[in-house]
Amino acid sequence: TIPLVLDVDTGVDDACALLLAALHPGLDLRAVTCVGGNAPLADVVRNTLTVLETAGRADVPVGVGVARPLLEEPVDARHVHGSDGMADLGMPAPTLAPDPRSAVDLLREVADAAAAEGDPVTLVPLAPMTNVAIFARLHPASFARLGRIVFMGGGADVSNATAAAEFNVFHDPEATAIVLDACATLGVPVTMYGLDVFYDPKVTDADVTALRAVDTPVARLAADLISFHHRRFANDGATIGDAGAVASLLLPQALETRSLPVRVELTGSWTRGRTIVDRRDWSGDMEHDPHGLAPAQVDVTLACDGPALAGLWL
Ligand code: BDR
Ligand code: CA
Repeated sequence: TIPLVLDVDTGVDDACALLLAALHPGLDLRAVTCVGGNAPLADVVRNTLTVLETAGRADVPVGVGVARPLLEEPVDARHVHGSDGMADLGMPAPTLAPDPRSAVDLLREVADAAAAEGDPVTLVPLAPMTNVAIFARLHPASFARLGRIVFMGGGADVSNATAAAEFNVFHDPEATAIVLDACATLGVPVTMYGLDVFYDPKVTDADVTALRAVDTPVARLAADLISFHHRRFANDGATIGDAGAVASLLLPQALETRSLPVRVELTGSWTRGRTIVDRRDWSGDMEHDPHGLAPAQVDVTLACDGPALAGLWL
């Protein structure tokens, strides 16, 4: 089984990802950390606890993290995820409470413990990377003990929050830049599961009907979440979104990745938050990159087998 930690801004599709991480026998969910993003932090924490409670995973500690990006005011996405951040399902308030440890302390403890056991943890940020950046800066030795990072964010060719940028990176570009730099300097392998593949793993109407027929609390929640997404991603099905990044851990052969230099645009007036993926051919005479700092080398997901990944979620 794969030991992992999710960092979330739950979030309809973060909820889908939490269900998979909490319940798949191939995954060992050690902790969940919350950050402001799709919804304000208090909503994110409540939604996350609701999902874990529904999944029967009261044992998973939930760490409360940072409410706002490093530099800017938060701009949430409740217009996408519902006024409560999770599809306005009217579910009862969770009885579970968050862990007394902060998100950053939890990340440090889980990273250290897993490394000491000889099976380093995979960190899966599915949200703006504010918590992860602060973790990297505050506890670099523990950050270096991560097995790898697989983050949902960015894109080589596709954007959503603006014409140039993906939501998670746009929400906190400095945090993403810090995390990529920390991965490069501290030697943590990093995979970008970005918008080039995000919309490909899809659930159809027939899948939702089958889910509803299962008629357990988890299946009902899964069906309700994905049905809410259907309103936006109609036609040939609804994306499982962030859950695809979790599914990819179980089925790496479903991804086509290339190791490429990636930078985060921090200053462009229309391009702030864009991930600049360098696909130039460096074998020729392009000896010099005129930009100072070396870019991070990232395993960029350029294509995926959507049905295979969606099949893991169902
Ligand atoms: C990302 O933004 C959020 O709205 C989703 O939860 C996902 O993590 C997609 O750009
Ligand atoms: Ca998310």
